Amino acid sequence: MPLPKAELHLHIEGTLEPELAFELAERNGVRLPYADTEALRGAYRFDDLRSFLDLYYGLMAVLRTERDFEDLANAYLARAAAQGVRHAEIFFDPQAHLSRGVALGTVVEGLWRALERSEAVHGVSTQLIMCFLRDESAASALETLDAAKPYLHRITGVGLDSAEVGHPPVKFREVYEAAAALGLRRVAHAGEEGPPEYITEALDVLGAERIDHGLRCMEDPALVARLVRERVPLTLCPLSNVRLRAVDALAEHPLPAMLDAGLLCTVNSDDPAYFGGYAGDNFDAVRTALGLDEDRLRELARNSFTASFLEHDEERRAR
Ligand code: HPA
Ligand code: ZN
Repeated sequence: MPLPKAELHLHIEGTLEPELAFELAERNGVRLPYADTEALRGAYRFDDLRSFLDLYYGLMAVLRTERDFEDLANAYLARAAAQGVRHAEIFFDPQAHLSRGVALGTVVEGLWRALERSEAVHGVSTQLIMCFLRDESAASALETLDAAKPYLHRITGVGLDSAEVGHPPVKFREVYEAAAALGLRRVAHAGEEGPPEYITEALDVLGAERIDHGLRCMEDPALVARLVRERVPLTLCPLSNVRLRAVDALAEHPLPAMLDAGLLCTVNSDDPAYFGGYAGDNFDAVRTALGLDEDRLRELARNSFTASFLEHDEERRAR
């Protein structure tokens, strides 16, 4: 039996497996620039975050209807459940769909069709976190938050993702203030490729309650001490870090040092269709490559629930 765990760093668009991508392409009459699923899988060789994002946003062209988003979410939830995930806080990227002419309502209501039945069907409770693309403008993020107002009863929080370097958290001060005023929880990717200062800024300027990745905090002992003292959760994604070359090899991942330092670490899959594994696969990989013992693995699973927004459900339903 896999350890029961919560998944807190998961981009639903990153769960699009090649087989489903081709199925949706056919259903929607979209031509993909790959001969077949093998050719598509063969293109999954990334040098960094940017090279991954280019392919990732391109493949989203197959997602067009509510049913597509429902099928995408159901496929993820089934795989996650099989690997012990009992609760999932799911990121989605509205701007990546709005820019292709897919309405926010299509995305949210489509995902919701799967999410509202998830506890009954998959035994997985869920929440939605709407992410802003940090390489788009602050004005675009504000427009996106405005467009989300009819759907806030479905949305727990906001996040910040896409190309990090050159797009510091401070760019999104205003939209995070507006999100907080609407009662939304706040998380942000920081310190994946960007410097430790982006982690500090995400905390101080955006009011981030969790840091997604946060790997590069290890370059700044004072920041590590603060994250430990304030019990700020970090949502690490070990297989993603290897594929996007944030670390050279899994055996060199700083997770053991981070746990030893007392950081509240969690293990997640990020974009499992692209990076070689779902949540349980990430747990298995760190156990094997880093020699984590059962106590450490149980600590990681416990941390995932501690760091979740589960207690927020009642407030969201009341909105
Ligand atoms: N980092 C930033 N943006 C992303 C990622 C990531 O790991 N995955 C999907 N969008
Ligand atoms: Zn991510």
